[in-house]
Amino acid sequence: MLEVVISDLKLENPVILASGILGSKWSSLAKVAEFSGAIVAKSVGLNSREGYKNPVVLNQECSIVNAVGLASPGAKEFSKELEKLFKVTNKPLIVSLFAQSSEEFSSLPNYFPFASAFELNLSCPHAEKLGMAIGVDEKAVKDCIKAVKEVTDKPVFAKLTPNVTDITKIGIAAEKGGADAVVAVNTFKAISIDVVSRKPVLSNVKGGLSGKAIKPLALRCVWDLYEVLDIPIIGCGGISNWKDVVEFILAGAIAVQVGSAFYESYRAVEGIVKGLNDYLSYTGEKIEELVGLAHGGV
Ligand SMILES: Cc1cc2nc3c(=O)[nH]c(=O)nc-3n(C[C@H](O)[C@H](O)[C@H](O)COP(=O)(O)O)c2cc1C
Repeated sequence: MLEVVISDLKLENPVILASGILGSKWSSLAKVAEFSGAIVAKSVGLNSREGYKNPVVLNQECSIVNAVGLASPGAKEFSKELEKLFKVTNKPLIVSLFAQSSEEFSSLPNYFPFASAFELNLSCPHAEKLGMAIGVDEKAVKDCIKAVKEVTDKPVFAKLTPNVTDITKIGIAAEKGGADAVVAVNTFKAISIDVVSRKPVLSNVKGGLSGKAIKPLALRCVWDLYEVLDIPIIGCGGISNWKDVVEFILAGAIAVQVGSAFYESYRAVEGIVKGLNDYLSYTGEKIEELVGLAHGGV
C-alpha cells in the first residue's frame, strides 16, 4: 500500500528523512531509519568544512531559518560514519554530495560504495560557490549530473533550489543530464533581524527558510515540475503530517522528504507514516495511484 519505487530503489513507504536535519551522527540517523522509507545523509564534500559560527539555526514561528554553511567532516571521514549506519539498517541510504564543479562531484561517489543512491546538493542557498551557486545554471546542473552518472550505476537525484525564476528549466536540465529523479526543494533565501541589537541574527547574515511556512511554495514547485518532467519527483518543504504528504503526492511527487518537522518531534516520520497508512487503509488505494491526480481535475 505504501511501497513506492524510484528508479531502482524500492521504498517500503514514501517518507524520507531530508538531508542535514539530524546532523552527521550515524546513531541519530539509525533511529529515524526504522520508520522512514529511506534516509538522506547530511551533505558531504571532498574536504572537511567547518561551517559557520553560531547562531546557525533559528527556530521561528512556523519556520526555521538556517545557515549552517555545509559543515562536513569531508568524504573520507564521513564515509566511515555512514558505513556504521549502513551496517545497522536495511533502509536505502542516500548520500548527499556537494562540490564546486562537475569534476569534483565525480570524485565523490567512490568514497561511498554502500550508498543506495546519490543526491546532488545543487541548492544550498548560503555557501559560496556551492549548492545553489551551481543549481541556478542549467548547463552546470546538466554537466554535474552527467559527470556523476558516468562514475556510478546508482540512481542520481538532483536536489533543486526554488530560488530561480523558473524551476522547470532547471528540472529539465537535470533530466537531460540523466538524473533519475529530482528533489524539490531546498530552502528559500531568507534573513532574520533582532530588534534589540538591530543586527542580523545568523552569523552568516543570510540563510535559508524551511518548515511549515514554505509548504505551499514547495508544493507549487512540485506541481510545475510534474507538468514538464518524465522522471520522478520527490517533494520536500514544510511537510509535517500525513495530509501534507498526500497533497505533495496529488501534486505529482512519488515520495517526500521531511526535515524541519523534526524540530517539533523526533517522532515526526513515525506519525506521518501511521497517518498515511490509516488513510490508505480507509480508501483502499495504493499511494502510487495518487501521484499527480490533482492535475486531472483542473
Ligand atoms: C538545519 C538544516 C540543515 C540543512 N542541511 C542540509 C544539507 O546539508 N543538505 C541539503 O541538501 N539540505 C539541507 N537542508 C535543507 C533540508 O534538507 C530541506 O530541503 C529543507 O529544510 C526543506 O524541508 P523542510 O521544510 O521539511 O525542512 C537543511 C535544512 C536545515 C533546517
